[in-house]
Amino acid sequence: MLKKKQRVLFTREEIAREVRRIGNEIDRDYQGREVILAGVLKGAYLFIADLARAIEGPVVIDFCRIASYGAGTQSSGIIEFRKELEIPIRGKDVIIVEDVIDSGLTLEALYNKLLDQEPRSLKICTLIDKLARRETQVNVDYVGFTMDDGFIIGYGLDYDERYRNLPDIHVMDE
Ligand code: IMP
Ligand code: MG
Repeated sequence: MLKKKQRVLFTREEIAREVRRIGNEIDRDYQGREVILAGVLKGAYLFIADLARAIEGPVVIDFCRIASYGAGTQSSGIIEFRKELEIPIRGKDVIIVEDVIDSGLTLEALYNKLLDQEPRSLKICTLIDKLARRETQVNVDYVGFTMDDGFIIGYGLDYDERYRNLPDIHVMDE
């Protein structure tokens, strides 16, 4: 059950608008070249589903799943692939599709790992960028929303595996 104090931060209409905008940007940048969308499970599952449909050019979809080790909610940057990409990305144009970038440590490790597989190009797309909490510099190519601190749920994002199915994005009060 959703408690009243979890206020809506981004509505489903705002999300849809930003997803369409990013899809248009990707079409403009890739000019009909095939792009591999590499979604990071689980959080990006709804975003990648909508984003893929907002792109008119040819798209291939794959997923990886990552565990990031650290104390409590703090990311350590030491990542373990729970599931690797299945499609070879060597020589391909790849976009990592993330739900949230927080410290940036998980993404930095993922980016370097995928870079080792020698894609033709490798970009980063995130629905939400928590800029204020960044601990390492990552160049994000496509961003839906930026926000400061705060824990968010909905539209794929969970708190203890719950609330991923909420259509809007909510902020949880401490
Ligand atoms: P980072 O390594 O600190 O950037 O961790 C980013 C990952 O932590 C994201 O991919 C999310 O899975 C998770 N995460 C960070 N902030 C939130 C949040 O506010 N709600 C839900 N998950 C989050
Ligand atoms: Mg994630």
